Amino acid sequence: MTYAIIGTGNVGSALARHFARVGIDVAIANTRGPDSVAALADELGSHVTAVALPDALAADVVILAVPFRAHTDVARAATQGWAGKIVVDAMNTYGIAPEELKGLASSNLVAAAFPGANVVKTFNQLPAKLLAANPADNGGRRVMFVAGNDEAASASVAQLVDALGFAPIALGKIAEGGALLALGGPLVLKNLVKLG
Ligand SMILES: NC(=O)c1ccc[n+]([C@@H]2O[C@H](COP(=O)([O-])OP(=O)(O)OC[C@H]3O[C@@H](n4cnc5c(N)ncnc54)[C@H](OP(=O)(O)O)[C@@H]3O)[C@@H](O)[C@H]2O)c1
Repeated sequence: MTYAIIGTGNVGSALARHFARVGIDVAIANTRGPDSVAALADELGSHVTAVALPDALAADVVILAVPFRAHTDVARAATQGWAGKIVVDAMNTYGIAPEELKGLASSNLVAAAFPGANVVKTFNQLPAKLLAANPADNGGRRVMFVAGNDEAASASVAQLVDALGFAPIALGKIAEGGALLALGGPLVLKNLVKLG
């Protein structure tokens, strides 16, 4: 599996730090090009590579850490199709009016923009500062909920979540589990730790 993080702000850089900490290769990209993140990539070491956006979108697993409305631009920036890829939705819908979601769970709206990709929602539920912290810093492992419509894709992302040091908890499909992770949902902003 190859991994890319799109967005190098609060959430993208927090996730990049985890990849670096555990030694999993990841590409990172934003709108401004690789030079703009050279300092972060240098600081994090050889497992984190700053690349141009279209190059990052060639990864098997593309993590969206961009403002919600930007996901459609990211989808369009790909030079190849999305079929068979996994898109991880780490976004929240701040500032998005409910009617803009057309009655859908936000990740299902994201799925419509990435035809053929399997969308898995995770990494959105903690404030960036807590997301950036070592998941083992309180003993045990910080919980990270995972929801997705495709079982294999969800399992693959749960494996990544686990490898990054979190305790993944599968919530099932987006319409049910994903709703618990939506902005204002009961599992958002909960700093839960799995012991043992
Ligand atoms: N902040 C939090 O505590 C938090 C917690 C959980 C989830 N979230 C969600 O995570 C997402 C990111 O939040 P954030 O706080 O990390 O935002 P941020 O600090 O503002 O960073 C946003 C990043 O997205 C990039 N970006 C924007 N449009 C793009 C595009 N079309 N193509 C490629 N990259 C693009 C920006 O690129 P440039 O650097 O080139 O401008 C920037 O690097 C949001 O959906 C937010 O709701 C945030």
